[in-house]
Amino acid sequence: MLNEKVAALINDQVNKELYSSYLYLDFSLYYEEEGLDGFANWYKVQAQEERDHAMLMLRFLQNNGVKPVLEAVAKPDKELNDKLTVLEYGLEHERYVTSLVNNIYDAAYTARDFRTMQFLDWFVKEQGEEEKNAEDLIKKLRLFGDDAKGLYMLNAELAARAYNPPSLVLD
Ligand code: FEO
Repeated sequence: MLNEKVAALINDQVNKELYSSYLYLDFSLYYEEEGLDGFANWYKVQAQEERDHAMLMLRFLQNNGVKPVLEAVAKPDKELNDKLTVLEYGLEHERYVTSLVNNIYDAAYTARDFRTMQFLDWFVKEQGEEEKNAEDLIKKLRLFGDDAKGLYMLNAELAARAYNPPSLVLD
């Protein structure tokens, strides 16, 4: 059985990850409207990954005797009207999610809940990668985005992103 506080935080994180998925789906819809189908693809794949994160959290609760409780997922509330600002929202959101994962880790550490700490190690690494990806996207758009050919090439690069299931697998 998990520590009650840790379990509650993980349950809350299921919701946060589903919100992340919903937010990135909204980003994807925005870019699709702008004719940037590669950017749209990149965020659609990201939305799938976020849903995977929610499912992993949910499964971890179940595997440890906790019944997950699903709450309402908030409506994405960002004004999306500039292709660079949307990427900056993405980075800001990932940093926020990192802080949430760190909070859960901190609670698990305090409770000497080594099982949860080990589970969260994957998410700590994943957040590092996701922040870097978000930073790289911003850098590239700043470098190439003002030039039509550069933007075309960047869009084509992002169109090639394929979905891969998470490397973490739970029974
Ligand atoms: Fe699942 Fe990018 O947070």
